[in-house]
Amino acid sequence: MKALIFDKSKTAWEESKGFELVDIPKPVLNKGDEDKIILKVRFAGVCGTDKGIWHRMAFKDAILNSIDHEATQIYELHANDANKKTYRVIGHEFFGEVIEKGSNVKDIEIGDMVSCESHVVCNKCFQCLNGQKEVCTNEKILGISVDGGFAEYAKVPAQVAWKTDVSKIRPEIAAMQEPFGNAVHAASKVDLKGKTVAIFGLGPIAQFLVLIAQGLGAKTIIGVEPNEKAAEMGKKMGIDHMIRIKNEELGIKNGPAHKHNQVVFNEIMQLTQGLGVDVAFEMAGFNDSVNNAISSVRRGGDVILFGLKTGDFMLEDYNKLIMKGVTLHCVAGRQIWQTWEITKKLLENTENKIQEKLWSVLLNEGEGTILNIADYSKENFEEMMTKNPKFLIKF
Ligand SMILES: NC(=O)c1ccc[n+]([C@@H]2O[C@H](COP(=O)([O-])OP(=O)(O)OC[C@H]3O[C@@H](n4cnc5c(N)ncnc54)[C@H](O)[C@@H]3O)[C@@H](O)[C@H]2O)c1
Ligand SMILES: [Zn+2]
Ligand SMILES: [Zn+2]
Repeated sequence: MKALIFDKSKTAWEESKGFELVDIPKPVLNKGDEDKIILKVRFAGVCGTDKGIWHRMAFKDAILNSIDHEATQIYELHANDANKKTYRVIGHEFFGEVIEKGSNVKDIEIGDMVSCESHVVCNKCFQCLNGQKEVCTNEKILGISVDGGFAEYAKVPAQVAWKTDVSKIRPEIAAMQEPFGNAVHAASKVDLKGKTVAIFGLGPIAQFLVLIAQGLGAKTIIGVEPNEKAAEMGKKMGIDHMIRIKNEELGIKNGPAHKHNQVVFNEIMQLTQGLGVDVAFEMAGFNDSVNNAISSVRRGGDVILFGLKTGDFMLEDYNKLIMKGVTLHCVAGRQIWQTWEITKKLLENTENKIQEKLWSVLLNEGEGTILNIADYSKENFEEMMTKNPKFLIKF
C-alpha cells in the first residue's frame, strides 16, 4: 500500500525534510491485535503538527524513540532482524471504512465509517480512571508515537474509532473532526452565550472556533492575526472585528519577544468601551500572543490557552494578572468522548451552517485543497502547505 512515512534508516532527522511516499505491506491483524481494527482510509487532514514534522521542528524525540521502542517489541515477538521496522507512518487526522476487526472488538462493525481520536489512552492511569482521559499519563499519539493514517490502510486500536454518519457529515469534513474537536474543547471551557470573545491567531483550529463560538451564542467575536489570508478567511467565517497585527510589530521581531502589543490592546479596549473581553482564546502559541490575551481580558474574565510552543514563556505584570482575578485554562486535545458528542451535534445540525462554511470557505469546495495520493511529490505537498491553511490527502 502507499504510505507517507519518515524512515530513520534512510534519512537522518536533522538532514532531511518532508515525508517519503513508499510502498509498504498492508497492515494485517496479528496475534495480540484482538482489540484493533483496520481502516481503508478515504481522506486525511494535514495540520500544523504535520508541518512541524515535515520541517523537523517538532516531535523529534517522540518519533525517533517510539520507532526504536516498537522495533524492540517486534524483535522480541518474532526474534527476527528482518522484521526490524525503522519508519513511522505519519498522520493523525483521518477518516475511513472499517474493513477488518479483532475478535474482542464489540461496538464497531465491518463497513462502519469512522474518524479517529488521535490520543491512544491507557485506560489505567489516575486520569483515565477519573474522567480526564485527555491528559492520560501514558498516551500515545497516532502518526507520532504509533503509525497513523497517511496511508491507504491503517491499523488502529478500536478504542479510538468514532462512528460517523456519512449521510449527515460529508467525508471531507469527517476527516477534520479531530482538529474541529480541539476547538470544541477550547470553546467548552466556559459558557460563551452572550459573551464578547477575542481570538488571537487564526490558524485552522481558530477558524473552527469562530464558527463554534457563534454556534454557542457568543455576542461579539474579535480576531487578532498578522497574516492577510488567515484574517480574510476569519472575516468570511464571521469575525465581527478583525485586528491585523503588522508583521514588524510581532513580538518575535521587535524588542522583548514576550511583550503584549499596545496597538492591539488599545483597539480591543476601544471595541469593548474600556472593559476588555469576557473570554480571550490564545490560538497561536507565541509569547506575545499569550500576553495579548491576558492583557485584553476584562477583570474576572477567562483566558483559554491552546497554542503550543516548546520552552519557557514569560507572563507580564504578574501582580496585575493575579489582582485582575483572571482564570487561565489550559486545553489539551479533546475530552473523550464528551467533545466528540458536541462535535457531532454541531456538524450534523444544518441550521448553523458550520459544515457549509467549512466546505466553502476553509476547503474552497475542494478546489486546490485536496491532494490525490497518486499526485504526491515533496514539491506539490509543500506548495499545498504554503497555499492553504488546511488541506486533505485523498487515498
Ligand atoms: N492544545 C492542543 O491540544 C493543541 C492541539 C493542536 C494544535 N495546537 C496548537 O495550536 C496552535 C494553532 O494550531 P493551528 O494548526 O490551528 O494553526 P497554525 O499554528 O497553523 O496557525 C497559527 C496562526 O497564528 C498566527 N500568528 C502567528 N504569530 C502570531 C501572533 N504573535 N499573534 C497572533 N497570531 C499569530 C499565524 O499567522 C497563523 O495564522 C499551534 O500552536 C498548535 O501547535 C494545540
Ligand atoms: Zn492535527
Ligand atoms: Zn491513562
